[in-house]
Amino acid sequence: MHRNPINAAMVKALPLMPRALVWRVSQRYIAGIRLEDALDTAASLNRQGMRATIDVLGEDVREPRQVAESAQLYRDALAEISRRGLDCNVSIKLSEMGLRFDPALCRRIMAELVEAAEAHSNFARIDMEDSSVTDVTLAIYRELRANHDNVGTVVQSCLKRTPTDVRQLLTEGMAHLRLCKGIYLEPSEIAHQERTEISKAYNDLLDQLLDGGCEKVGIATHDPPLVKHALAALAARNVPKERYEFQMLLGVAEKLRDELVAAGHPLRVYVPFGEHWYAYSARRLRENPTIAGHVAKNLFLRR
Ligand code: FDA
Repeated sequence: MHRNPINAAMVKALPLMPRALVWRVSQRYIAGIRLEDALDTAASLNRQGMRATIDVLGEDVREPRQVAESAQLYRDALAEISRRGLDCNVSIKLSEMGLRFDPALCRRIMAELVEAAEAHSNFARIDMEDSSVTDVTLAIYRELRANHDNVGTVVQSCLKRTPTDVRQLLTEGMAHLRLCKGIYLEPSEIAHQERTEISKAYNDLLDQLLDGGCEKVGIATHDPPLVKHALAALAARNVPKERYEFQMLLGVAEKLRDELVAAGHPLRVYVPFGEHWYAYSARRLRENPTIAGHVAKNLFLRR
């Protein structure tokens, strides 16, 4: 992916940055430390005409105790979302549910969480992580979908395999998907590296999903040309609002977000929260140094 020397320097400097500084930069993108913070943010977004999805921060968990803690936070989130009548679902990373050290535990917990969401008439999205877990993530998604309609996953336009995965999921009637570019740095054998290629793949995949009769697509991007393509693609096919929504990360591209909402498009905001905010921020920066450019921008252009 495109590298710029300032971004690379920011990534190298990251371990030297005090937590307070990283927090100041990150807090715009993170609802807070406690579930209450995420619920308040979701309520505020709802009041502004937006939906939300809550992400309990934490990934690549190595101990059953941590899995249990995260899973409990998701159960609490689902119960509180329902009690407060929020328009908000949950997004879950399989590595946070123990995928890398105990796949059977991960499968068990995910089945429980999808059932808990179902009991509250809610929905669970399985986030997509790096390419080492694409196959197992899609396999677990298929297993869950065999018994539950209220679960979806994510596909990444940077991966060369994605058109094939999408074709297969469309054939199986399981295309309840969020489409994103993909945040992980992947090798050129399996992933497009150039921004133009990733964007073209994104547009083609959205067309493929809309033409193939996807159940619902989450159009997750802040990139104005991609949003423009999506708007034209939706209008050309007269896609009803139940079959799509735009999705954006908390604190990002708020002007574009507000314009879409004002134009009447459904839009969901991804709301991360939790104690593991530092690891999340640091890891995101290491994995995709282009994001460090946003950190630099925020350091110097404080708003
Ligand atoms: P691009 O990177 O070109 O960004 C367009 C513009 O948006 C930038 O110029 C900048 O202004 C702004 N911007 C983008 N990201 C920003 C940031 N972090 N901070 C500040 N400004 C930013 N990936 C993945 O691999 N698996 C997943 O499950 C998900 N899930 C997901 C959910 C949602 C709701 C979103 C919006 C994104 C994801 N992603 C993801 C991340 C996704 O793959 C991608 O890395 C980012 O969305 C950035 O790509 P854009 O399409 O926004 O374009």
